[in-house]
Formats: sequence, structure tokens, C-alpha cells
Amino acid sequence: MLKKGHVFYRSQNKDYPVAVRGEGVYLYDGEGKRYLDGSSGCLVTNIGYGVSSVAEALKNEALKTGYAHGSTFTTEAQEELAALVTEKAPEGLDYAYFLSGGTEANETAISMALQYHMQRGKSSKYKVIGRRLSYHGSSFATLSAAGNVERRKMYSPLLMNFPLIPAPHCYRCYYGLSYPQCGIICAEELEKTILAEGADNVAAFIAEPIIGTSAAASVPPKEYFPRIREICSKHDVLLICDEVLCGYGRPGSYTAQELWGVTSDLTTLGKGLGGGYIPMGAVIAHKDIHDVFSANWGKFYHGYTYQGNPVSCAGAVAVHRYLREQKLFEQVGPKGELLKKNLHAAFSDHPHVGDIRGTGLLMGLELVLDRSSKESFDPALSVAEKVRETALEEGLITYTGVGPTADIIPRDYLVIGPPFTISEAEIEMMIQKLAVSLEKTLMKLGYAK
Ligand SMILES: Cc1ncc(COP(=O)(O)O)c(C=O)c1O
Repeated sequence: MLKKGHVFYRSQNKDYPVAVRGEGVYLYDGEGKRYLDGSSGCLVTNIGYGVSSVAEALKNEALKTGYAHGSTFTTEAQEELAALVTEKAPEGLDYAYFLSGGTEANETAISMALQYHMQRGKSSKYKVIGRRLSYHGSSFATLSAAGNVERRKMYSPLLMNFPLIPAPHCYRCYYGLSYPQCGIICAEELEKTILAEGADNVAAFIAEPIIGTSAAASVPPKEYFPRIREICSKHDVLLICDEVLCGYGRPGSYTAQELWGVTSDLTTLGKGLGGGYIPMGAVIAHKDIHDVFSANWGKFYHGYTYQGNPVSCAGAVAVHRYLREQKLFEQVGPKGELLKKNLHAAFSDHPHVGDIRGTGLLMGLELVLDRSSKESFDPALSVAEKVRETALEEGLITYTGVGPTADIIPRDYLVIGPPFTISEAEIEMMIQKLAVSLEKTLMKLGYAK
């Protein structure tokens, strides 16, 4: 009999089902109930569950090296992973620094940016500009560079006073404008902010190319990131693209930034990099950044005990190989189109679905009280969270994100992002379950169609 009760859970008054087995796109609990994973956990299990080549790779590496500290050794697993991960990245993103997750990756990217400037005699450049609708992790630096109100508010005295600018989010434009007449004013805001802070004080701008949980797969207008790239280069501000959630194949391209032909200075990865099998994150640095480290200090003053861990790297190599061998990177585009088509067929005319957005296998629904005015439900109702709970009862895993965001009014988002291995029939089943869950929830709340 499983002894439960000594875990410090995320929610103390909730009874968690025990996940005992995973296979394909399904998780099973201890009662034998099957859950179709419509969100890859939190956009993590890109290759699905139970891939034996990953398990074998982990076992083999655990027996082979087990552990080798990064200040003394490199390993075959780490070298191979770095070669694979950088090979597919935009040109110039050639050097990988491996960590244990997305927060560590973004925290590290910020440190790397500051040390890069210091080595060029620009020590005054320390500020990081972030965006309001964003999430970069749970550490104090990453919270400081993002706008998630709920996650920030209890630590406000400890957070750094980094400037935050509006993110491009056309469904609810911060300026109340419409694209393209807006002239991408949200990108111009970056230049204004750099000038207001003084370019000599700004080290980096960090942004999710496609906003993940803070705005449920909000894709920017195509001109946004090319303009951001120009502004960053002009003011010697590094562009950090946080692709922890939106990258690594999920948007239909390897990275999201390449959708607009942009190359960042530092890109962070996480989630899908380990595929759920191991905790994994990475900073992929442009060779121009690496050159400055080589030519000056020859050292990055940073480090974690488990950085570049060989067992984790071997697992991530196996995940990456599986993605390539099964041609899963290539499948995201067509499967994403099918998902989008089916979501539109099911919800385009739904009175409480205000917006269907996203690209590839990263889609979002925004639930609203009134479709024409875009008025949201009363936040106290937690409509999206209730849909998520009902979906779980129906055997479907969805994701609602990280709670209220920088928006003044919390919104109801559902993120849909199944494993890349999902079949056409499973996409249809997922949408059916989602539709049933939405109707049941609205019915319970007295908002039936
Ligand atoms: C865009 C983004 N960046 C960073 C993180 C933090 O990653 P982790 O939870 O692995 O620390 C997340 C997690 O949800 C994320 O969505």
C-alpha cells in the first residue's frame, strides 16, 4: 500500500491522483484511470511517455559515468548534446550551457549577459528589461524580469526594480490599438525605455517569442521581433529569447525566433529538452558572446552542482535523437494545422470562447463572459481552472498556466499543447473531451450555451 502524506504539495488541501504509468500520449493513475495528455504536462512531454530508448540511455550513462563535476570534466554525453542542440539552432547560436530547468536557464542567461558587458568594460550595464505579460521562472531575478502579478506580489520588497514594457498581445492590445495601424508601438516602447533608463545601464531585454502561460500562446505580429532585434543591436543590449516553453520544435520550427528570421544573443531552453524524463535546461549562446569570454576572462563566474550532468545529458540526447529519428520536428506543423482547424470547428462560434490563438502544437483558448465585448468572467469563479478540473474528470489533461498575470484583470486561459506523437484520432478525441468539459463546467456555473 502506498504511504501518502509526507510530501509538501503545491496545494495542501487537494487530493492528488497518483500517476503510476505513462505510455504514448496517456498517463494512468493508481485506480487504472487513463488521462489523455492534452498539454504535455506543462508543455514538457514532447515525445510522449514510455520511450524505452530514453530509459536505456539513462541507465547506461548512470552506470558509465554517473557524475562528473563540470569544473573538472566534460563528458561524451554533454559534448554530444551540445552538438545536436546547437546544430539545428539559428546560425551563430553555437555554445550550450546545460542546467536543470527553465528558471536556472534564464537566471544563468542574465548572469552571462552582465558578465559579457563587464568584460567589455561596460560594468554599468546591469538592468534587464522584461515584459508585463511574461513568465521566466521562480527565482528572484527571473521574477523581477517578468510581470506575473500573482507570483511577484508576496516578494515585492525583494525584487529588483527592472523596467517592464507591454508585450505584443493583439487580442487585448495594451494601447487599445489594432494591428497593423498600431505601427507596432509595443516594439517602439523598448527603445523608449532603453533611452529613459540610459542605454549605458541596460544589459539585456528578455522576452518569450510566443507568450506561453501568461497569455496562452499569443503570437506577435511578424514585424515585432525583427524590430526588437534592431533596437537591441543599436543600443548594445543583449536579446534573450526565453524559448523554455515555446521553443524546441513546439511552434513548428525548431526555435520560435526563426519564424521571423531573428537570431537572439542568448536563447534559453527547458521543458521539452528533457522531454519530462529528466530535469533539463540550457542557455544557447551566440558565438559573439562566447568569443568575448574566450578573449577576456576565459571564465564564466557561475555554476551549479548538476550543470551538464552526464546522465541528464544522455537522456536529453536520447530525447533529441528520438525527435529526429521519428521525424517529430517535421510533424508538428501539419499536426498543428489539424489541431487549429479542429479547435476552430469546435469553438469558433462558441459564445464563451473569445479567442483561439497559437501556432504549431502550442494553442490557447481565452474564455470570456461576453465574446463581443471581450469581457472576462469574474476572476473569483476561476472558470478556466474549473474547466481544467472537469477535463481531468473526463480523462483529459489541460493547462491553465501560472495564475493571474500582469493584466490588471486575471483572464481565463487554457493552453493546449499535446505531445508531438499525438495521432489524428487522438487530436479529435482531445477536442471532444475539451468541448464536453467546457459545456459541463459552464452548465454548473449557470452559463450553458
Ligand atoms: C517561458 C518560461 N520560462 C521559464 C520557465 C521556468 O521553467 P522551470 O519551471 O523549468 O524552472 C517557464 C515555466 O513554466 C516558462 O514557461
